[in-house]
Amino acid sequence: MRIHLVEVDELPKQLLTSEVEEYEDWGVELRDLTPPKGLRRWIIYDDLTLVGNMSAHPVSYGPNESSVCMNIGISVLAQFRGQGVGSAAQRILAQTLHLEGVVRIEASTDVGNLPEQKALRNAGFRFEGVLRSAQVRRSGRHDLQLWSHLALDI
Ligand SMILES: CC(C)(COP(=O)(O)OP(=O)(O)OC[C@H]1O[C@@H](n2cnc3c(N)ncnc32)[C@H](O)[C@@H]1OP(=O)(O)O)[C@@H](O)C(=O)NCCC(=O)NCCS
Repeated sequence: MRIHLVEVDELPKQLLTSEVEEYEDWGVELRDLTPPKGLRRWIIYDDLTLVGNMSAHPVSYGPNESSVCMNIGISVLAQFRGQGVGSAAQRILAQTLHLEGVVRIEASTDVGNLPEQKALRNAGFRFEGVLRSAQVRRSGRHDLQLWSHLALDI
């Protein structure tokens, strides 16, 4: 497996039309959502094969620039899951953003999303706690786990 990321401005159509499932079902078409300010996107490739996509957007914990971290998200195409892609890609994106000078990288995931929790741990992220009733999807309001990767963790 040779996972690498390519930053893009927009996702290709084949990713936007792929099947929507529980943890990514916002109850509206993804393209109808206003993207968070500062959103960046990457395509995940295994050699030349497109296997998924990632994003990162800034989250601020204070009025100064040093208090801004990046929150990352990931989706691996169903046929490529369980092969280590999610673990490798999240480790690579954390390292990429640290090299750009981002000290704190966050990822949040549903308390029931065991594959993502395992992938984050494999990628070197640490569990920080639970964000109660933080996310609303088509299925209702959900608690999220918050994970982080610090530049010191490399
Ligand atoms: C979550 C996701 C990104 C993980 O990617 P992945 O490529 O499958 O992850 P990996 O192959 O690196 O697997 C990570 C761990 O999860 C386990 N796993 C993968 N799929 C699983 C499943 N369906 N059920 C249980 N465990 C699973 C793997 O065995 C591995 O465990 P290990 O550390 O004990 O070996 C992927 O499943 C996905 O895109 N899911 C849908 C979208 C989503 O939930 N995104 C995250 C939203 S926060």
